[in-house]
Parts: sequence; C-alpha cells; structure tokens
Amino acid sequence: MKIQLKPEPALKEKSVDLAQIGSAHLHSSVFEHLKNGIDEEKLADEVLKTHGDSGLASFYYLLNLLKKHALLNYKTSLIDWVPMKEACPPDSLCTNGLYRISPFAMLRAEDGCFVIETPLYPVRITLLSQEMLILLDLFRKPVTIAEALSRFSHVEKTELEQTLALLQQAKVLTLEESNLIQMQWEPHDLYFHSRSRMGKHDSIYGGSFPFQGKIPPPSCKKTYPSSDAFPLKKPDSPLPISLEEAIESRKTVREHASSPLCSHQLGEFLFRCARVKETLVYLGEEFAKRPYPGGGARHELEIYPVIYACEGLQKGVYHYDPFEHSLKRLSNLTEEAEKLLRDACTMSGKTEYPQVLFVISARFQRVSWKYRSMSYALILKNLGVLYQTMYLVATGMGLAPCALGGGNSDLFCKVIGTDYLEETSVGEFMLGSRNV
Ligand SMILES: Cc1cc2nc3c(=O)[nH]c(=O)nc-3n(C[C@H](O)[C@H](O)[C@H](O)COP(=O)(O)O)c2cc1C
Repeated sequence: MKIQLKPEPALKEKSVDLAQIGSAHLHSSVFEHLKNGIDEEKLADEVLKTHGDSGLASFYYLLNLLKKHALLNYKTSLIDWVPMKEACPPDSLCTNGLYRISPFAMLRAEDGCFVIETPLYPVRITLLSQEMLILLDLFRKPVTIAEALSRFSHVEKTELEQTLALLQQAKVLTLEESNLIQMQWEPHDLYFHSRSRMGKHDSIYGGSFPFQGKIPPPSCKKTYPSSDAFPLKKPDSPLPISLEEAIESRKTVREHASSPLCSHQLGEFLFRCARVKETLVYLGEEFAKRPYPGGGARHELEIYPVIYACEGLQKGVYHYDPFEHSLKRLSNLTEEAEKLLRDACTMSGKTEYPQVLFVISARFQRVSWKYRSMSYALILKNLGVLYQTMYLVATGMGLAPCALGGGNSDLFCKVIGTDYLEETSVGEFMLGSRNV
C-alpha cells in the first residue's frame, strides 16, 4: 500500500503550509516522494540511509503530523482511501465471519470517478479500477473473506488483502451481525445527520456563500400575481394570557368545534406568528425580522393556508403574504388540494377535515445560496420554532393547534405549481376553533 500526500487544492483548503512543515523537519525530497506516492517502509528505509536515526525520528514525527491532519491518502492498485478526518488504515485484514456491503454504503460519481463512502467512518474511497465493481459485487450477499479472495485470484494477493482491509476499516464491508443500535438508523437519516453536523466529513460547512457572484439569491419576498388579495385583520389588543400561562397550558388539540374560526382570528393568528416586522438590507440583500427566529434572518418558509371552514373566507388554497399581511387566493379546493386535507386527517387520526391546514413550504435556495452542508437541517429547525410559535399563539387565542409530522411534498407542488427542487412543503399545522 502506498501513502500519498493529498493534492495541492486539498492542502490549500486546510491552510497547510508544506514549506513550513518541511523545512522544520525534513529535506524536501521526502515530500517529493509523498507527492508521488510511495510505500511507507520503503520511504523510511531511504530516510534512514540518507539522514540516519535522527532523520528517521523526524520523519515519523512528520508522518504522524500529516496523518493527524488527514493529509495522507492510502493507495492500492484498486482504491484510493482518502481520510476526511484523522483515520488510520488497519494493521491487518479480518478474516473471521461473513462480510457484506454495508446498507449504509453509498456509491456515487465525483469528478469522473466512482466514489464509495459510509456515514460511519470519515473516509472517501475512490475506485481506481473497474475490477472494484466486480469485487464489490461479490459482497452483495454475505460471503467469507477466504471465498472472496479465491474468486478474485487474478489480482495480486497482498494488494487484494490490503484493499479488503481498507474497505473493512471504512465500514463499507461489514460483518453479518446485528447491531441493535445501528439497525434503528435508516441510511438516509444517518447520512443527513452526519453531513449536516461537523465531525465526520471535510466538506465546507456553514455560511460560505458558494453561489455569490454566480447566481442571484432568491428574493426575500415571494409574490403571487393574484388579484384576489384579502387584507387580514391585525390584533387590537394583547393576548389575554401570560407567556408562562401559554407555555404551561399549551397542548395539542385535534378536534375542532362545530362553529368554525373566522377570518379575523386567522388574521390575528398569522400576524402574531409570522408577519414581517421589519426588513433590512445588508450587502445588497434583503432580510426580514419576524415574530419567530430564522437562521441567518433569511426566512425561507412560506405559509399556505388550505381553508376548509373559516367564516369570511371561501374554501380554497391561499398564500400568506407576510409583508402585506394579506392572503392571496391561489385556487379552489380542488381534488388535489382536498387530498392535502385528507392526508392531514390520516396523520392526526381524525375523520373530519381540519378547519384550516397551514402547509408550510421552504424556498430552499434562500438558505442553500448561503450555507453549505447544513441547509436542510437549518430549514427544519426554523420550521420547529415556527411550530412552537404557532402552538403558543393558538393557546393564547383559545384555538385548537396541532403540528403534523409529515405530508406529501410532491402533491403540494402539483397544487401550487412549484418546482420540487425550488419550493415545496416541509411541514403542516392544523388550526381550528376549540370546544370550551
Ligand atoms: C414536530 C411535531 C410533529 C407532530 N406530528 C403529529 C402528527 O403527525 N399527528 C398528530 O396527531 N400529532 C402530531 N404532533 C403532536 C404531538 O403528538 C403532541 O405534541 C404530543 O402528543 C404531545 O402532546 P401535547 O402537544 O399536547 O403536549 C406533532 C408535534 C410536533 C411538535
């Protein structure tokens, strides 16, 4: 197995100054070897010959430093094993038991190469040969290492063993055993978790503005050219209960009273939860302040009330304009819009449609224009604080609130006519009048 220094751009990304590390410890010829890729023992022998014992000590110090900062790749003829964080290759191949490809392994194309990784170990493996696809195919079902080795006899044995050991270490190959903790994770959830938090990857993280100067950001305000705009009422008095009372008495109420809520209540509710209180411009971009907090003040969430029963408003699908504090009517309660209400019933175990269903969408690029790795996680956090604001305001107003944990985002796009990748639903919240 060869060790190889990561290419120049990766070093730059990590702000590594090779000249500094090198001049402090060793002659630049070692770096030349590392850049080209060399067997570790061979390089150590060479250093011993030319620099003696003290040179060897410096060499191992340097090597550990490079490993610690994940600056070395490990290469066989079949794969390039690229640590994203400090990660060590294994000492030997484990040969006991049955091995298979982990359900968490993901194969994808990157820069013209196949790359395989799992969210369980911070290593990215680039496949260097088509043979690797055949080798991986052997492990579709559980198989012993001995059997895999025997079926792959055309590749040099040590190379093959090292490759398999690296796949084991990266948890791409996993023992056929049940891990009670791991089995409760779905692959997409664990990917999402590991990629939207720091620690298990080396991707750019946080507010890095990757599209600045390339693509204009979506505007702060979403507008619909509908002439049917309904100005909404603003509250003319404060809520009758304290914050503490609201927090203490808040509860989910799924049943609605027989007489529906009215458009004035709907207006006051939306005003208290979600209106735009002020806008600010920073570096040419518009941001908003609303009653609920939003990561980066980007406020990507939009609220679409689907009205089934609300005095003063016809049944139908509306968009809440938080700038104007008004509703824009988008459509009748079409068959597809009604399906949104039916899904809400299924989610809440109700048989009657909610009086009002708020479908909350995200305009994803509002967030991903600025943030890397964490955009979707941030959107769901913003949704959570909106939910809680809605719960507390509904409680203060004596209404019946219920958050929902799921809905049909594909159907929502059909109802509203948006592009799934640009804007679709991320949450639902039911509201109605409450039995006293
Ligand atoms: C994010 C979230 C998702 C929820 N999803 C649902 C749901 O799909 N259906 C439902 O009936 N209740 C749902 N609820 C309401 C919870 O079931 C409820 O909060 C929980 O039972 C505790 O009751 P409490 O709100 O009265 O304290 C959800 C609540 C939250 C915060």
